[in-house]
Amino acid sequence: MKEIITYAVITGASSGLGKAFAFELAKRKVNLILISLPHEGLEEVVQQLRAYLIEISCYETDLRCSENIVSVSNSINSNFNVSMLINNAGMGGTKRFLDADTNYLNNIIQLNVMSTSLITRALLPNLLRQKQSYILNVSSMAAFSPMGFKTVYPASKAFIHHFSRGLYQELKDTSVFVSVVNPGPMKTNKDCTDRINRQGLLGKLGLLTPGKVAEISIRQLLRKDTVIMLGLGNAINWLLMMILPIWVRLPLLTKVIEREIKKDKCFQKV
Ligand SMILES: NC(=O)c1ccc[n+]([C@@H]2O[C@H](COP(=O)([O-])OP(=O)(O)OC[C@H]3O[C@@H](n4cnc5c(N)ncnc54)[C@H](OP(=O)(O)O)[C@@H]3O)[C@@H](O)[C@H]2O)c1
Repeated sequence: MKEIITYAVITGASSGLGKAFAFELAKRKVNLILISLPHEGLEEVVQQLRAYLIEISCYETDLRCSENIVSVSNSINSNFNVSMLINNAGMGGTKRFLDADTNYLNNIIQLNVMSTSLITRALLPNLLRQKQSYILNVSSMAAFSPMGFKTVYPASKAFIHHFSRGLYQELKDTSVFVSVVNPGPMKTNKDCTDRINRQGLLGKLGLLTPGKVAEISIRQLLRKDTVIMLGLGNAINWLLMMILPIWVRLPLLTKVIEREIKKDKCFQKV
């Protein structure tokens, strides 16, 4: 009998954690469908991945736009069998809410919340057709507590967390396994790296490389771990967030985050 070729879809695969997921899966000889924004270096990533001798297809599109999600998903569903979906593309930032303009707010909500929900819905019939398939949603430690000066980002990641847990339960008796990973800080893009550097010691608790996060996440996903925790630092972080009452946790975290903005202002004066 002819073997069915299946693929893993990774959103936001041109850099950071998404790129690390692509390499981790390539090492495991998983064929890939990579999605990222146009002209952001995806071709270069594909060239590097060729060494693993796997099948690779790419879509360069802006996932903030629902029409793009529909057309990419239609194309994937017509051409490929999908046995894994990694919803990694996401963005955040630190700003006073009054300084957050429409674009900033729209970008976070559309990419983190809307695109994750729509692409999952669109690819689900394809995933359900496979003997065994996986969905991994990338949330964040920020999902576990609200915080000032980030406001929308932790709320969007709490959405991802709850969405994943609900979908897991709903699909429990099907061939689709759903998991969520909550990374702590990772020095991926320049903005993230600068922000982590400005946060002080508490902000660096649980710091891991994107490669390590991808390695642990894929290992645990395949072991069917429903909520993936990454290392001791993040486990301590999580425990603190569960133990500390909200009236201690909320001002404490907000103070840590506010440092990013205050230090930013210092930089501007120099
Ligand atoms: N870094 C951290 O400290 C941290 C901590 C916890 C959770 N996370 C989460 O981890 C995930 C990856 O973050 P990262 O730090 O690796 O970010 P990153 O380096 O900025 O990478 C984000 C990826 O998403 C893609 N992307 C951004 N906007 C897009 C759009 N509109 N349409 C399609 N693709 C788009 C980017 O593609 P282009 O390169 O083409 O722009 C890039 O490949 C995110 O969900 C983030 O919230 C990050």
